[in-house]
Amino acid sequence: MQPVISIQGLNKTYASGHSALKTIDLDIRKGEIFALLGPNGAGKTTLISIICGIVNPGEGRVQVAGNDIVRDYRAARSKIGLVPQELFNEGFESVWATVKFSRGLFGKPANAGYLEQLLKDLSLWEKRDARIFELSGGMKRRVMIAKALSHEPEILFLDEPTAGVDVELRRNMWEMVRKLRERGVTIILTTHYIEEAEEMADRIGVIRKGEIILVEDKATLMRKLGKKQLTVHLQHPLHALPDALVRDDLSLRDDGYTLVYTFDGQRDETGVAELLQELAQQGIAFKDLQSSESSLEDIFVSLVSERSE
Ligand SMILES: Nc1ncnc2c1ncn2[C@@H]1O[C@H](COP(=O)(O)OP(=O)(O)O)[C@@H](O)[C@H]1O
Ligand SMILES: [Mg+2]
Repeated sequence: MQPVISIQGLNKTYASGHSALKTIDLDIRKGEIFALLGPNGAGKTTLISIICGIVNPGEGRVQVAGNDIVRDYRAARSKIGLVPQELFNEGFESVWATVKFSRGLFGKPANAGYLEQLLKDLSLWEKRDARIFELSGGMKRRVMIAKALSHEPEILFLDEPTAGVDVELRRNMWEMVRKLRERGVTIILTTHYIEEAEEMADRIGVIRKGEIILVEDKATLMRKLGKKQLTVHLQHPLHALPDALVRDDLSLRDDGYTLVYTFDGQRDETGVAELLQELAQQGIAFKDLQSSESSLEDIFVSLVSERSE
């Protein structure tokens, strides 16, 4: 299937000389929730801002629903709704006027029915006549989302949608994003909360220092996540694993004192007992055992630190 967003060889160097994106290649599938996960300063907002036409791209090509973001700017932009990281709202306008105005900016004909449904979906209908400054923080955020969706975009970008948001609002936000996806909207969200990517995404991309270092289906990532490790500290160092112990899931660290056994923590048969028996048969004595479970957090941290060495 044709990707809804296609990014090829995109880079970006700011006027300051800072290289914020280094040759990004990424396809976003129609109808998916894609989480772009990365630490602060990784380039998430820069990437989104380029796709949305707010920041000029460097080299490379970006297409949105088949439209080049530079050559066919208007067509590309009309497919997109953006909820920016920095929220700002016109304080004295009513909710209704603000959202209606946003739709008008895209040259869309008035459609009171659509806007009414949108405000109802976002639990803002009762507040349609309230002025923005009267609203709670959570409602203001929902107004930003209503504005972003006012022109019926196919793609919604949410840049750190739950940064600094309380737990309940975060849950509401996740719920709302899922509902949008059910309606066929493609959603790209950025976050530095691993938990959020884990909860929401169909696919997860990890960005670090302007490079995408991993893109994977969440389910695949979760399977890796189900892995446990048993670390065996030996009494005496080994130069190599004895033939009887050579296998994919067992490795000897360079120090010769440490064996690492990786197994599926979700299965009943972990193989730990068998491994310990084999060690005994080989006359390998150990002084300590440690077991640990890898989480998305570990995967993330190890990915991020591996590349920094
Ligand atoms: N307008 C700008 N001029 C110069 N450098 C910038 C500008 N905007 C962002 N940067 C730098 O680019 C890098 C990526 O920033 P950003 O895309 O905001 O990251 P993220 O959203 O992942 O936190 C950071 O080092 C940031 O300081
Ligand atoms: Mg950002």
